[in-house]
Amino acid sequence: MAQEPSSTVAVPEMGAIPKHIAIIMDGNGRWAKNRLMPRISGHKQGMEAVRGVIKACMERGVAYLTLFAFSSENWRRPNEEIASLMQLFLTALEQEITKLHENGIRFKVVGDLSRFDSKIIESIQTGEQLTADNTRLTFTVAANYGGRWDIMQAVRKMVTHSTTLPDDLEEENLAQYLALSYAPEPDLFIRTGGEYRISNFLLWQLAYTELYFTSTLWPDFDEHELELAIHSYQQRERRFGRTSEQLRIALSGEG
Ligand code: IPE
Ligand code: IPE
Ligand code: MG
Repeated sequence: MAQEPSSTVAVPEMGAIPKHIAIIMDGNGRWAKNRLMPRISGHKQGMEAVRGVIKACMERGVAYLTLFAFSSENWRRPNEEIASLMQLFLTALEQEITKLHENGIRFKVVGDLSRFDSKIIESIQTGEQLTADNTRLTFTVAANYGGRWDIMQAVRKMVTHSTTLPDDLEEENLAQYLALSYAPEPDLFIRTGGEYRISNFLLWQLAYTELYFTSTLWPDFDEHELELAIHSYQQRERRFGRTSEQLRIALSGEG
């Protein structure tokens, strides 16, 4: 599949709506704990926030939304929490896919699916096939995803399929095999829950993404919170190594 121009190459207009937003949805457990509720209640409430953010992104013309739902490292959590998360994922797949389709949303999942239950894998495949031709918003869930896993699986595919000599290999040779190769690199990264880290999310693709961190816990992240993040993004000048002066000249058409 042809890859869209990477954000690292094309300088987007300042003040534009981000084309691709990637979010680490963190803080569900603490949200529940603050209410003396079990952690899974926080995850359930987090699903409501997901619905709200999808709707808000559609209304604003965001083309790609990618949400980190379960990391390669989250298998280290207590078995009971993992089982509840898997059940929640399956229920969400069964209940939401039709609604996504009705709204013209293309649904994708990235990550190592091999560790999931066959029912989950089937629901993902059904959902991806059903929504494959939708163009309004591409909504990607990263599940059992890790940035290092992604780079490694891409390297394996590249060395298997490539006939290019090692010295002639370019970034594009690898990038075409990354799980998110159908999407441009994220313009805006958001992490809720107050931690300042990437937690092995999109390591390759975040090279020049604008980062936004908020202490708001994910279940409380609503349309207004998204608006704040987009507003912060719109104030930033993305230079990709160039100087401000160069950007001004290019914009005024002198360059
Ligand atoms: C994020 O919320 C959801 C997942 C990782 C599945 P957490 O469960 O990490 O919530 P906190 O960080 O414990 O509050
Ligand atoms: C990151 O959240 C992964 C997801 C949101 C799915 P975590 O809460 O697991 O991250 P760490 O372990 O605190 O960095
Ligand atoms: Mg967390």
